[in-house]
Amino acid sequence: MARLLLPMPGNEAMANAIAARTGDAVGVLEHRRFPDNESYVRVLTDVKGREVELIATLANPDEKLVGLCLAADAARGAGAARVRLIAPYLPYLRQDARFNQGEALAAQTFASLVSSVFDGLITVDPHLHRIKRLGDVYAIPSAALTASDEIGAWIGKRVATPLIVGPDEESLQWAERVAAAAGAPYTTLRKTRLGDREVRLEAVGDLKQSLGRQPVLVDDIVSSGTTLSSAARFLRAAGFAKPHCVVVHAVFAEGALRRLEAETASVASTDTILHPTNEISVAGVLAAGMGGG
Ligand code: R5P
Repeated sequence: MARLLLPMPGNEAMANAIAARTGDAVGVLEHRRFPDNESYVRVLTDVKGREVELIATLANPDEKLVGLCLAADAARGAGAARVRLIAPYLPYLRQDARFNQGEALAAQTFASLVSSVFDGLITVDPHLHRIKRLGDVYAIPSAALTASDEIGAWIGKRVATPLIVGPDEESLQWAERVAAAAGAPYTTLRKTRLGDREVRLEAVGDLKQSLGRQPVLVDDIVSSGTTLSSAARFLRAAGFAKPHCVVVHAVFAEGALRRLEAETASVASTDTILHPTNEISVAGVLAAGMGGG
């Protein structure tokens, strides 16, 4: 059955990069706002009987969610045989528990909404921490791909004698695999979050034995930049050179990149979210994860 990649606005480059690998056609979707700011969505390519892969990275999800749901409906209404969400960045996974009385279960609620309009989901390095598998909250077939091998290979080519450092214990899953691909040792720090923009860090293992290596901080997400900036200061205080930083998802809140650049030797990211720091493409990871052509 012919497949069609359908990019939401802003996802055309990723759709084309995937198509260059899979040979799939890339369709066109019209998305505009009515004067009252509601979304208007129309599929302009014939999707009848086709498997539609809707390409939509979901940073700033609140402003994208309605258009996304309408796009799924538009494709289905026009006769698509299957409508799958390809989200290089999948949001709303960090508020995965009710940490305080009265809080919303954001991860579960967002997953329910997405599951109600799509037939499947593919993403890259979702923030799975207390939720162990996407299938624990998503009711549709889902796949969590990883860019760790690409990141590790990228580091391996550019940094001599690296030490891969995950800034917190949940980053172990990325640090371990990135380090293997880079052929480098790794460690993690322990993070206690004191607020949206305040964290406390401590070493988990013995950092002294790695002094002299070039630290490379690796994390899945940078948002306010607090975690990585604090980790960079922590490593400097422990006697290391300014670290390089490599993240999968360059969410970057206002001013975060400037603050992080002041504390680090360099900042790089994958292109799951379009950002000036993008250095590593996940198009190949997605193309392979989507199952070829
Ligand atoms: C959560 O633990 C994630 O892995 C990141 O470390 C965190 O979301 C980064 O957020 P921020 O840049 O605001 O510290």
